[in-house]
Amino acid sequence: MTENENFESRLKGLTMPRHVAFIMDGNGRWAKARGLLRAAGHRAGVETVREVVRMSAQYGIEVITLYAFSTENWSRPESEVSALMGLFLSALEREIDELDRNGVKIRFLGDLSRLPAANRASAAAAVARTSGNTGLQLNLAINYGSRAEIVRAARAFAEKAAAGGLDPADLDEAAFSDALYTSGQPDPDLVVRTAGELRLSNFLLWQAAYAEFYATPVFWPDFSREEYAKALLAYAGRKRRFGGLETDNA
Ligand code: IPE
Ligand code: IPE
Ligand code: MG
Repeated sequence: MTENENFESRLKGLTMPRHVAFIMDGNGRWAKARGLLRAAGHRAGVETVREVVRMSAQYGIEVITLYAFSTENWSRPESEVSALMGLFLSALEREIDELDRNGVKIRFLGDLSRLPAANRASAAAAVARTSGNTGLQLNLAINYGSRAEIVRAARAFAEKAAAGGLDPADLDEAAFSDALYTSGQPDPDLVVRTAGELRLSNFLLWQAAYAEFYATPVFWPDFSREEYAKALLAYAGRKRRFGGLETDNA
């Protein structure tokens, strides 16, 4: 039995998260350590995405969210931003057939209006094509910022109320959740961050209220099947309280 199979076999029978959200960090550092350009790190990161999607479906996880580009990432050099946009486009075009065949349902979290036209078209096509699929739900967070998402939802309610279509007293947590990009999906149970940073960087601030957090020093391109299994094992060993009394995950 290989080391991988060992970690993966230890997961049998354990509680899996319904929704895992990934802060895919460390592509730049991975490339730098090899004397490569940052774009090469992002390209390597796409391979990890493929594996993570496959494994998530295998484990029966319902939803995964991948933080691919934040509202703050526009502040990077133009060359890196366009390399990333090109990569998102080519990866989606290359993978869409297989994703669709495997029943994956794609959703985008974020304001796509600022993306290049080709990216927007390809994103809209992927969402439309997979909308009837019932397998893994794959959220791609691109030009996503949690604060922007929350403000957008708040503004929608304010506009409705101002137009007389909503009594402010009717705005509750469930209605607010429904106005977010993740509407209708379970909140993340587990947030995984690679590359050693211990912060949320404007990711799912509302939705992750009670998520378990798992951080690993491993850079995203090196986040292997085994590393994923380790994160899930850690999750299964957590005791979730939700402010109440202890419940074992295992
Ligand atoms: C994560 O890797 C990918 C994106 C944010 C798009 P980084 O590009 O942030 O890599 P580091 O943090 O510089 O190593
Ligand atoms: C978070 O990574 C955003 C994504 C993974 C897309 P960053 O590399 O942008 O985060 P900071 O700047 O280290 O907080
Ligand atoms: Mg980073």
